[in-house]
Amino acid sequence: MNGFFITLEGIDGAGKSTQARALATWFEGEGREVVLTREPGGSAGAEEIRRLLVEGAPDRWSGETETLLFTAARRDHLERVITPALAAGKVVISDRFADSTRVYQGAARGELRALVDTLHKLAIQREPDLTLILDMDPDVALSRGLARASGEDRFEEEGAAFQHRLRAGFKALAAEYPSRCRLVDASRPPAEITPDLIAATQERLA
Ligand code: TYD
Repeated sequence: MNGFFITLEGIDGAGKSTQARALATWFEGEGREVVLTREPGGSAGAEEIRRLLVEGAPDRWSGETETLLFTAARRDHLERVITPALAAGKVVISDRFADSTRVYQGAARGELRALVDTLHKLAIQREPDLTLILDMDPDVALSRGLARASGEDRFEEEGAAFQHRLRAGFKALAAEYPSRCRLVDASRPPAEITPDLIAATQERLA
């Protein structure tokens, strides 16, 4: 059995974690072993870095420092969790991965895409087999995200205009990597979205 690496991407509050769990359940029903994980975080070291990233004032880090921290967290997550699981033939489903850095740091928060791409090439390299981008109106998603009040709202505090730039960034990314990215309408009820994600997965596995 070959390992299979899926990532879920999209703006804050688009329902990625719900869909990641639904996809994991489907894979388990198919008899596959699944590792459900997330970024920033996913390994012990990366979860420590996560706290530095998601808590505190929006201007706590420069865009450059933030990009280095996300990349450091990803490297640890890859070494400790993703690569070993794929090597063991498991399915890895990650709620966010490198595309989030391309869009959040590389496009929406400053013109840092060159730095993002260089760091990715040097320290990460790995791309997912399939990336499901959950697309929806940021005004709806933002109200859901803030409603959670998790204390992890450093990014969500930046407001609607930022979320609209992110949505455009994810759409551009889907056009940039058409062979591995699928844009999915996430404004529908979760139970209607899951079958589309499973269909995209089956198509990619075939
Ligand atoms: P996440 O826990 O996925 O938040 P949410 O569940 O609200 O989508 O991610 C925390 C924040 O970090 C989120 O606003 C997106 C941001 N982020 C980046 O800016 N760059 C990255 O590379 C990643 C992985 C996340």
